[in-house]
Amino acid sequence: MNKLIAFALLGAVSLPLMAENSVPVQLPAFKEGQYVHQAPTVDDLMNDESIKPQLKEVILKGRDLFMNTQQKRGEYVFNDMNCKSCHMGEGRMNWSGPVWPAATTLPDFRGKNQHVNSLEERIAGCFSFSMNGKPPEYGSDDMLALVAYHQWLAKGAQVYETNIGGRGFSHLGREPEQPADYERGAQVYADNCAVCHGADGQGQHVDGKVVFPPLWGDNSYNWGAGMTRVFTAASFIKNNMPLGKPGSLSDQQAWDVAMFVNSHERPQDPRYTGDAKETREKYNNFHKWTRYGTEFNGQILGQHDNSGDKPFLKPDVLRPRTFD
Ligand code: HEC
Ligand code: HEC
Repeated sequence: MNKLIAFALLGAVSLPLMAENSVPVQLPAFKEGQYVHQAPTVDDLMNDESIKPQLKEVILKGRDLFMNTQQKRGEYVFNDMNCKSCHMGEGRMNWSGPVWPAATTLPDFRGKNQHVNSLEERIAGCFSFSMNGKPPEYGSDDMLALVAYHQWLAKGAQVYETNIGGRGFSHLGREPEQPADYERGAQVYADNCAVCHGADGQGQHVDGKVVFPPLWGDNSYNWGAGMTRVFTAASFIKNNMPLGKPGSLSDQQAWDVAMFVNSHERPQDPRYTGDAKETREKYNNFHKWTRYGTEFNGQILGQHDNSGDKPFLKPDVLRPRTFD
């Protein structure tokens, strides 16, 4: 597709025009007993006299880093993602991985890295995997700004509450009713996704800026990112894609297209041991949900040294932590 058309298309899905679109936006209902928090907006922040102006400035800086993380390309980010590429609606939206629960539930134990994590460490995790990057130093100005943004989004929310409506990307469960199918997924992709993300999955750029992010390849999330789990991608897609028409795919279509997207190569998992099968076994509580280290079209997915644009494999922040 021609770049100008792509740009016009982005305009066409802006909110006011979306109302004219006849496809109803269908999001799941909250389950009974679930805790629901509506994260505040920037207008709320501006009008909130209980927050000191100096803190407002830092929160807004954190928001700016979250929305336009590409400003740190080559420093913290080595792919085409912004935080908001997956945490849509400024990280405030239910069913799109709202980020505030991290501020009310951490520190806590995380299965992914088998130790108690802080909010900074959770943010660092998304830098290391989803952004194929290198997190800002703990305690640095940029990390403080991001933490301030997350904490403010949680303003008024119940601390230690874990039964949260709309949290994360897992509402379709762990497994589909019938196994996800690559070929069917390829068709769903061609019909519903390629127009923006490209037939080759590489997304689209206008004037060097990412307009539609890639879904696989060097500029996408790496093999250690939560989104490589087929169930995570399926739920994200079901409730957020195609952009402007969330809920329009059937559950099975979401599973199939998630399987298709996540069967493509992407930058190496920073936990790579040199052998993808071995790495899969070592981190099986995570990788049992991904296709990494499995055979596909005669190749072992993830068996390569490619870390994309990132000039190293493993950010030093990914250290194990024990309190023994
Ligand atoms: C490629 C998609 C992607 C990008 C880009 C991304 N994340 Fe995430 N993020 C995820 C996934 C997947 C989860 C796990 C959600 C789940 O548990 O279902 C997550 C979880 C989180 C959480 C925890 C939320 C909770 O419920 O506890 C925080 C905080 C977070 N991300 C912050 C960030 C920040 C900050 C950035 C940018 C530096 C970022 N993310 C970029 C996919 C992404
Ligand atoms: C109208 C354009 C459009 C269509 C159609 C569309 N997307 Fe997206 N998609 C986007 C945009 C834009 C973002 C980033 C959201 C943001 O930054 O606010 C995105 C983000 C994503 C992401 C997370 C970020 C990343 O790049 O990994 C995934 C996964 C995704 N889309 C999958 C799909 C799938 C699968 C389909 C088809 C079912 C689809 N999209 C259809 C525009 C589109």
